[in-house]
Amino acid sequence: MAVEGAREVGSPGGPARVVIDPGLVTGELERNVFGGFVEHLGRCINGGLFERGSELSDARGFRKDVLELLRPLKLSVLRWPGGNFASNYHWKEGIGPTSSRPARVELAWGGVEPNHFGTDEYLAYCAELGAAPYICLNMGTGALSEALDWVEYCNSTAAGYWAGERRKNGRDEPYNVIYWGLGNEMYGEWQVGQLSAPEYCALAVRWARAIRRAAPDVKLVSCGWNGWSDWDRAVIESLAGLVDLHSLHIYTGSPDYWENVLSPHQAERAVTCTASMLSQAAYNQKLSRVPRIAYDEWNVWYRADDGFLEERYDFDDALAVATYLNIFVRHCDWVKMANLAQMVNAIAPIVTSPQGSGAQPIYQPFRLSSEVALDYSVAVSSRGPLVAGPATDAPDRWGHRIADLGPFCVLDAAASCDRARGRVAVTIVNRGLVDLDDVGLVLRDASFGGEARIRQLTGAGGARSAGPVPGLLEARLEEGFEQAKGERLSLTLPAKSFCTIEVPIDMGG
Ligand code: AHR
Ligand code: AHR
Repeated sequence: MAVEGAREVGSPGGPARVVIDPGLVTGELERNVFGGFVEHLGRCINGGLFERGSELSDARGFRKDVLELLRPLKLSVLRWPGGNFASNYHWKEGIGPTSSRPARVELAWGGVEPNHFGTDEYLAYCAELGAAPYICLNMGTGALSEALDWVEYCNSTAAGYWAGERRKNGRDEPYNVIYWGLGNEMYGEWQVGQLSAPEYCALAVRWARAIRRAAPDVKLVSCGWNGWSDWDRAVIESLAGLVDLHSLHIYTGSPDYWENVLSPHQAERAVTCTASMLSQAAYNQKLSRVPRIAYDEWNVWYRADDGFLEERYDFDDALAVATYLNIFVRHCDWVKMANLAQMVNAIAPIVTSPQGSGAQPIYQPFRLSSEVALDYSVAVSSRGPLVAGPATDAPDRWGHRIADLGPFCVLDAAASCDRARGRVAVTIVNRGLVDLDDVGLVLRDASFGGEARIRQLTGAGGARSAGPVPGLLEARLEEGFEQAKGERLSLTLPAKSFCTIEVPIDMGG
């Protein structure tokens, strides 16, 4: 089967199909894999999700139209306040009466931070969305004492000063913020207060121990890099016994179609390498609990490169985003959190103007994947046309090398089951440039037992989103139902499409 334009390396023979083994659980799928991230960057927060005085906002200044677009994504966790911004953020300037909060020159992205959206506003926003908060600490210009005060402000029931300030600001009960990040990208020269690996490790160990004293039940996240670097190894060796999660970031994207849609597989390399390093550290240090991975920034991003990052996405990017989510579901034994970077205006599925808001094509695959996901990831394999990995010199802002990971099947799938093993949810991306008819969705040692709900996304015209909002180019969504019996369901997968199938199954016995 020819795949036009690709470096086709052939078909493995036989018709294309996706085989699922619902009895073979590969991991518990945590909802935090469908997490988000918002940073004080450009118009993400200020002038994006938060706009006091707008008739589209509620009394707190939360844009209601943005909330309505965010809710269907069912974000279970929301990281804040950055990103690079976190490394020069002083949280105490963002609490109390707005009129007494100082505006500050901001060094990560430029401009001035008015500090009107602070800790209490963020935590109210998380509550509004039903998302768990995840605060990234300032290890750039910030002090450990300031971090400890922040933990007290958010979580303490004691009669201390900062818990008292929280009460004064209208919140008696502790917020109980579970996730705390030990700095953001501290390895980078773009980071305010960049550190060398030994410097970071020494500092993060001190911070982790102190924060654990203050709040033994919080979950700490160490600052990793790409998952295969010496920085990751050093951080893992120093912090494996002190943290719950090791964070990774990945951005991919390229004007070359195949490079764009296949680069997310680099995340599979990162997970494999990081899992090995974590396992090795745990073995050497005799740890009974092995930290897992938080992919706390990921997305397609290669066009916008200014202080605003208002990337305009096309449907090719949507296929890449769908592939990322499949990868996180398939590897959910290690990936326990993932945060789409970001949610509003800055490299985001949601775009606003003072008059309205709209969704970009990457919005729908996230929404559908998040909506259909069930409790356990189960074994899945895809057979179909194969393409070679893009050459190592393919244009890619990030310089990822994925040629050796190929050949890739044009189909990429993930599957999950509910606890009772009475339902399966499957997500399939067809990155190929030709329609595939009669693709078998095949169950191993189980049979379909009822009506299958099939939803399919294709690009509306293939052009990039452009122009003012609302009215941004969205993906086209079609929905159908089919009675599914026996072990095989036949699917038609158009070229460049994303498909979700939700169906009851019978495991027999
Ligand atoms: O998400 C945009 C930026 O990308 C973040 O601020 C930073 O952590 C990363 O480099
Ligand atoms: O290459 C690193 C990233 O690129 C930084 O996070 C961001 O600030 C820059 O645009």
